[in-house]
This record gives sequence, C-alpha cells and structure tokens, in this order.
Amino acid sequence: MGQTPATPATGGTVAIRGALLDCIADPFYEPEAQAVRYIPDGLLVVQDGHIAALGSYEEVSPTLGDIPISDYTGKLITPGFIDTHIHYPQTGMMAAYGEQLLEWLNRYTFPTEGKFADPAYARSVAELFLDELLRNGTTTALVFAAVFPASVDAFFEAAEARHLRMISGKVMMDRNAPDFLSDTAQSSYKESKALIEKWHNRGRLLYAVTPRFAATSSEAQLKLAAQLLDEFPDVYLHTHLSENVSEVAWIQEMFPQYQGYLDVYDQTGLVRERSLFAHGVQLTDAEFQRLSEAKAAISFCPTSNLFLGSGLFRIEQAKNPTHPVKVGLGTDVGAGTSFSMLQTTNEAYKVAQLRGQKLSAFKALFLATLGGARALCLEDKLGSFDPGKEADFVVLDPQATPLLALRNQSGIPGTLEAMADLLFSLVIMGGDRAVTATYVLGKVAYSSESP
Ligand code: GUN
Ligand code: ZN
Repeated sequence: MGQTPATPATGGTVAIRGALLDCIADPFYEPEAQAVRYIPDGLLVVQDGHIAALGSYEEVSPTLGDIPISDYTGKLITPGFIDTHIHYPQTGMMAAYGEQLLEWLNRYTFPTEGKFADPAYARSVAELFLDELLRNGTTTALVFAAVFPASVDAFFEAAEARHLRMISGKVMMDRNAPDFLSDTAQSSYKESKALIEKWHNRGRLLYAVTPRFAATSSEAQLKLAAQLLDEFPDVYLHTHLSENVSEVAWIQEMFPQYQGYLDVYDQTGLVRERSLFAHGVQLTDAEFQRLSEAKAAISFCPTSNLFLGSGLFRIEQAKNPTHPVKVGLGTDVGAGTSFSMLQTTNEAYKVAQLRGQKLSAFKALFLATLGGARALCLEDKLGSFDPGKEADFVVLDPQATPLLALRNQSGIPGTLEAMADLLFSLVIMGGDRAVTATYVLGKVAYSSESP
C-alpha cells in the first residue's frame, strides 16, 4: 500500500492522514451531528506523544513543513479503544463450556488463575494479552490480575515496556475460594498497599483496588479496601456487581443486614466516583440512581453476559437523563468471547435489539472511546482527538475483508450520515480483521502489515 508509518525514536512531530472520526460529546444526550466530529480527509498532528492539532488535510498540511506524513487515505482513524473490564489471567480459558457464573468460576476460573502463582507463566500471558489488545485496537484497559502480587508486577512490567496507559490491581479474595487463591483481609491490604506505592502513577500506569466480588470478600476485607481508597484518593475501585440471578440471591443470603448487592459495597465505603462495577445486569432502578448520585461507573460486558447467560443489560436505564450513570464497554475476557471492542459493540447492539432499543453506530463508538474514558475519569487524557490528549489511536480498514470491500465499495464517504452506515458495518462485521494499525503515543504499536 506504499505506507511507511512514521516512527520517531523518541518524541518528535509526526502527522497522520486519513478519515478522522471521534466523539466530542455524549450522543446519548446530544444530537449526533454535534456529538461526533468527522473529517473525511483529515490530518492528525502528534507532538511528543500528544495530539498537537487536527483538521482537514487541505488546511493543516501547509503548516507542516517537512514533518513526515503517514498516509492512511481510504482508512478510518478513531481514538484507541478502551476496554473497561477484562481479566488477563483468563486469556487462556476463553470458551469454557456449559456453565453459568458461579459454577463457571469454580470449575474453570479458579484452577486457571492458580497457575499465576508462577511469575514466569504470568509474564508470558501478560505479554500475549497486551499484544492481543493492541491487535484489536485497544490501547487502554481496566484489568483484573490474579490474587498473587507478582501477577500484578508481571502485568505492569509488560504494559510499561509498551508505554501503555493501563489500570490493574491484585485480586482481593479471602473466602469462598480455594486455599491456593485465598488471601486474608490483612494480607490483601498490605500487598495492595505495597503495589499501589510501587505502580500507581508510575508513567502511564494506574492502580485499581480489586476485591473480586462481595461473595469472595469478608466484610472486613471490603472495609480495608475502602481504607485504601481513603489513603490513596486517586486509585480506582474495580469489582463485579449484580451479574447473575443466583449470585444476587447468594449475596443477599450472605449479607442479610444490607438492602441489596450494591448496598454491601455502599455501606462498606466502596461506591465512589472512581469506582467501576462490571456488569450490573440485575440492578434495580434504585441502584442505578445510587450509582448516578455517587458518580460511579458501570462496565457493560455484552459478550460475557450472553456467553454466561447472565442477562440483558438495561443500557437505557443506565443512560436515563434524569439519573445518568457513566457507562463503558468491557470485553470481560475470559467470560467474554472476544478481545475485540468492535465485536463487543456488535453484541451490545444485539442486546439492545432484544430489549427493543437501538444502539447507533456513533453511540457504540462513544461507549468504546470517550464513554470508556469518562467511566475511568480519564477524559482529560484519552477518548478523543482533542489537542493535548495522549495520541493513542486506531486505523481501521473499511474494506478489510472481501465482504467488507463489497459492503463499503464506495470507500470513505463525504457525509456524516454515510459515515454512520460505514461505521455500523465495522461494528457488525469488523472485529480484529478491520484493524490496520494501532498507535500508542503517536507511534505504531501494532501493524497488520508487519511480517
Ligand atoms: N464475578 C466474580 N468473578 C468473576 C469473573 O472472574 N468473571 C465474571 N464474569 N464475573 C465474576
Ligand atoms: Zn469480570
């Protein structure tokens, strides 16, 4: 294709030409024509890993001097995808047959996570996991590690080597788990604290306090998790919430003194602005309202919810304008069935269809980019092409396969309306094959054209 991606050794200025598409507001609340920015023949200028300028090729190219241009004419460039919930130790156990959540955890997940006691194994999976994210256009993720602190070290070391903005944490789990995966309230507090001190805000890395879910934590452990949030106010809280009917009933039995599943987290001090709860499929209206009030976020994980038979997330309830909840999309690998955020938006569309709702292509793009950044309180750094933000982006090929080439034979369109149609084809038919290149801080981190 005659493209030579510009790859400065360090810093420097580069420019990328292609069709630029990003969300600058939330299309769930604003008209799409105002929420979406589309520049059919655009130029993105990157300086020292950050976006310096964007505009039409015609306007911006005369200002460039001899800055090299990577030419992706015919391709679509969007901000890097943000996966707001995924488990790296579960990379090798996708497609585990036949169970719903609680049996699936006992039968497949816990034995798999036990293997991460071996740091060398953890390192090898962390490398593969991050390469797979990049192959799918995902540049930031909120990631469960395993219970072993060394599994967090392995993950962050691999992320640091790739200059990625990643959030992760050690699983806290002091009951209802096998001994080989259990910590104690005290040991989990101490180990998490040491990991926060080692990794949080080191380069682009951030820490999330990570109790697995209320069923595997004593009340004492949940309270110590909240103590960590008090001590380190800019760390995250990452856990699961109201995924499966049997799980919700079990939590109610285990914590009879509380008003429901969310209330367990709330009364122990875990429902906050930087808290992200995966799933929320079974949430009541009152629980959605409470999450809105607390400015906490939900990760909607459609491929996982369908695979485990958990249910259909009520996105219109989460996005209710009178009590809006921040929502990102998560793959939830290994209950999720794909690393691809495009594939995840495909399943989100179908979940919406089953509930009589429409998820437009631009709403899907928002959830996978700026919506994810907002859910992670990172919208000042990620999620759109606004100058000053970190230059993580993905180059998509609207004609990546013979079927896509037929579907999109007229190539990059001139109007936003026609772009909605092209983007929808990538949501439904795209997946990993549509990713031509993934850029991290303005440099090529993955290219489908590499040998
Ligand atoms: N709830 C508690 N642990 C898990 C997990 O590993 N995956 C999913 N999908 N739900 C959970
Ligand atoms: Zn999960």
